[in-house]
Amino acid sequence: MKEIKLLTRRVGTYEPPDLKGYEAQGGLVALKKALAMGPESVIDEIKRAGLVGRGGAGFPTGPKWAMVAGEKQGQKYLICNAEEGEVGTFKDKVLLDGDPWLVLEGILIGAFAVGAEKTYIYINGEYDQTIELWDRLVVEARKAGLLGDDILGSKLSVDLQVVKSKGLYITGEELALISSLEMRRAASRLKPPYPTEKGLFGRPTVVNNVETLANVPVILAEGVEAYRRLGVEGEPGTRLFSLSGDVKKSGVYELEIGSGTLAEFIEEFGGGTAGGRPIKAVQPGGGTSRFLAGDSLKCKLTARAILQAGSGIGTAGVIVYEEGKSAVDIVKGLIEFYGFESCGRCAPCRIGVVRIKEIIDKVFGGEGTDEDLEQLRQIGKACVAVSTCGMGQAFPLPVLSALELFPQDFEAAIEKVSA
Ligand SMILES: Cc1cc2nc3c(=O)[nH]c(=O)nc-3n(C[C@H](O)[C@H](O)[C@H](O)COP(=O)(O)O)c2cc1C
Repeated sequence: MKEIKLLTRRVGTYEPPDLKGYEAQGGLVALKKALAMGPESVIDEIKRAGLVGRGGAGFPTGPKWAMVAGEKQGQKYLICNAEEGEVGTFKDKVLLDGDPWLVLEGILIGAFAVGAEKTYIYINGEYDQTIELWDRLVVEARKAGLLGDDILGSKLSVDLQVVKSKGLYITGEELALISSLEMRRAASRLKPPYPTEKGLFGRPTVVNNVETLANVPVILAEGVEAYRRLGVEGEPGTRLFSLSGDVKKSGVYELEIGSGTLAEFIEEFGGGTAGGRPIKAVQPGGGTSRFLAGDSLKCKLTARAILQAGSGIGTAGVIVYEEGKSAVDIVKGLIEFYGFESCGRCAPCRIGVVRIKEIIDKVFGGEGTDEDLEQLRQIGKACVAVSTCGMGQAFPLPVLSALELFPQDFEAAIEKVSA
């Protein structure tokens, strides 16, 4: 397996916010192309490229843009989602810090394509230096005529506001994010209406992940055919994988989609497990993804193969757990985080997350019973089935899959008590 530097090729080669360093390496070529092509052709190119969102839900970008572009009257918005709150996920930061102009170019092209004059970048509240850098970047961009009116001498007007997030996992969920930007409580709501119909201040809004937007200038600059040559059928391009947990070397690696298996990736890039023990389980798509173990680790690094293996590619945050750890400890660690992250709006998630946390603590503390394990299953399944947003639908997945894959660990925790 080899790293392919498509989105990350300029990372570390210039000192942001230096714009010259970016332009010297092909920067802004795509924006100029886009302005000459016109908004509709840009959306067609993104559709033809087959770009899908990298924020976790995997929604196709071109059709999303077309929905917002279809609204011809009044204000529209584009939001770059840089919350990056998912456990085991730190790849957006590489782009935000290492090649912010690429992300800004993606924002500008997106805004041009959908007709949004006002854009936002909503950055994780813990990324202090990143926020500082983006504040300086906006000043530079205004000076260089890349924000404001008549961008690059065209009729395009776009403004960008840098917003420090409230530092909650839930504010990465697009509707909670929008609510927070409106200075309201960061709570989600039922969809539809989707943000593309009724988003920020009730207006059509595109919400896109950082990595998704970084793909846009690359697609336009390199051309759709070249872009589609990378990846596999139905999943073109590359993905930035964050690798962490029990590995020798954690980090962010850009790989061609489908270029190897999950097990090969962990071995070749992570240098194997930290303690040299066999792998017990892996979460391939961030902290809310189901565990994979055994032969499932031989699945290719594609969304489809990971789904077939029983999990989801999500944010491509690969978290490795080696043998020697009990699954009870692992899910306890995860639920300790998610247990405080529900927005509280819908009852299944608000109550379910607390109940699940209580039961896991009880089992971990050696006071669990078979009935508790059954309750874990029931509550987890109910949350997945009836929660309003992806938070409640996803946080129980690791717990449920741990119960399926490692029942012996839970039984051992219970038996410890009875003995
Ligand atoms: C609880 C929760 C947290 C999320 N956090 C993020 C996040 O930090 N960054 C992100 O881009 N998307 C996040 N998402 C997904 C967004 O709701 C949305 O689908 C995404 O920003 C759309 O961008 P994309 O189409 O480019 O992937 C989250 C979703 C849920 C349910």
